[in-house]
Amino acid sequence: MSFAKIVKEVLFTKEQIKKRVDEMVSRIDKDYQGKDLVVVALLKGSVVFLADLVRGFTRPLAFDFIGVSSYGSSTSSIGMVTLEKGITVDITGKSVLVVDDILDTGRSLNFVKNYLQKFKPKEIKICVLLEKKETRLMDVRADYVGFEIPNVFVLGYGLDYEDRYRHLPYIASLKEEYYNELSAKITEPSEGIVQDRTAGSSNGRTAGSGPVGLGSNPSPAASNTAKNV
Ligand code: PRP
Repeated sequence: MSFAKIVKEVLFTKEQIKKRVDEMVSRIDKDYQGKDLVVVALLKGSVVFLADLVRGFTRPLAFDFIGVSSYGSSTSSIGMVTLEKGITVDITGKSVLVVDDILDTGRSLNFVKNYLQKFKPKEIKICVLLEKKETRLMDVRADYVGFEIPNVFVLGYGLDYEDRYRHLPYIASLKEEYYNELSAKITEPSEGIVQDRTAGSSNGRTAGSGPVGLGSNPSPAASNTAKNV
């Protein structure tokens, strides 16, 4: 499937992303002067952003990855997040910067923050490239934000549609017809689309309640106005 076929609108070009990431790097690099920094990135969406971010830092740092999965109702705040991969770098007494591609409901980052607190770091801050404010369900705030976006389904620069298109150098919105297609798939659990998250077919987009994945993009079946998870 060609990119042009599924892309509705390019929201941020490669050049716009680079400019904004460079600005973020300058600020963060200054803020962490003299600190023992460990960057912890959430798999998989943050990987492209992380790579551009850390290469701009002028100070020594370590980085590590964490993997989480979200399950639960698309419309309530009772979603359950589980740990799939924990950290392996020692963060005790260190300054931790959690990096993710997008802050949406806040479930993932809320879970990660609580998980990391157990290792008694000196401080934890959060850095995201994208933020959807209107969909927040948890009391999580990012210390560094690249761009604020409305509640649209986004892909590219690490963000996926059905686990693809993460490699696109720009960030785009998905055409409604594909969004609706995804909605149709999700409402047919007999096809096994949403039950098996490891198959990578649902990309965490969910419908209704039950043990289905949640993700960074609008819940297609929640409503026609793209009410988010
Ligand atoms: C996405 C995204 C964030 C999270 C944000 O991950 O990368 O980690 O959802 O959503 P939240 O604020 O509602 O928790 P996803 O579960 O889709 O996995 P992925 O990163 O592997 O695509």
